[in-house]
Amino acid sequence: MIVSPSMLSADFGNLDRDIDMINASQADWFHLDVMDGVFVPNISFGFPVIEAIAKRAAKPLDVHLMIVDPDRYITRTRDVGAHTMNVHFEACTHLNRTVQAIHEAGMKAAVTLNPATPVEMLRDIVADVDMVLLMSVNPGFGGQKFIENTINKVQRLRALIAETGSKALIEIDGGVNLTTGKLLAEAGADALVAGSAVFGAPDPMAEIAALKAL
Ligand code: DX5
Ligand code: ZN
Repeated sequence: MIVSPSMLSADFGNLDRDIDMINASQADWFHLDVMDGVFVPNISFGFPVIEAIAKRAAKPLDVHLMIVDPDRYITRTRDVGAHTMNVHFEACTHLNRTVQAIHEAGMKAAVTLNPATPVEMLRDIVADVDMVLLMSVNPGFGGQKFIENTINKVQRLRALIAETGSKALIEIDGGVNLTTGKLLAEAGADALVAGSAVFGAPDPMAEIAALKAL
């Protein structure tokens, strides 16, 4: 299992310490949540903070843009050091063009679906993307309850990926812990984002190791 701890739940007053913990752990990526207060009802952090994290992070940055019209920020996202750029299906008018532009900028392209968006909406793009991120909560906040229907979506997405010959990874974000993570692993998820489960654990590194072993 690929594990991508969400820095949204880190202690922003001790970012270096929390980055070093992820570096020393078995985590695979850093998950970075950008919110614009328009696409989602919250504002998190932006490019200067990502740039600071990139300087110290020793693992790829999995950047999740919860913003309207993310096309405006493709070059900027690349320049601050993103490995993967996650854009929301619901925020892109010309998704095929957006995916092409992300690739041309030299990043992996991931498309994110809100809980109410069916995986079938991706039939004609899934072969062109590197990853699909399924939101298992409504985006905007950490610490929310996992939406059970996500298990069903993972199974249907797994079938769609096989049917279309896509190589896309399946990543899940929201309410992931050891219990929901086990169900997601069984359903066919490749990557798990976890914020509060990791940073709220008594031993975050052990929690990452346990998620990794799912
Ligand atoms: C929510 C963000 C998530 C968030 C997950 O909108 O996209 O990445 O940090 O937090 P938890 O794991 O606490 O649900
Ligand atoms: Zn996220």
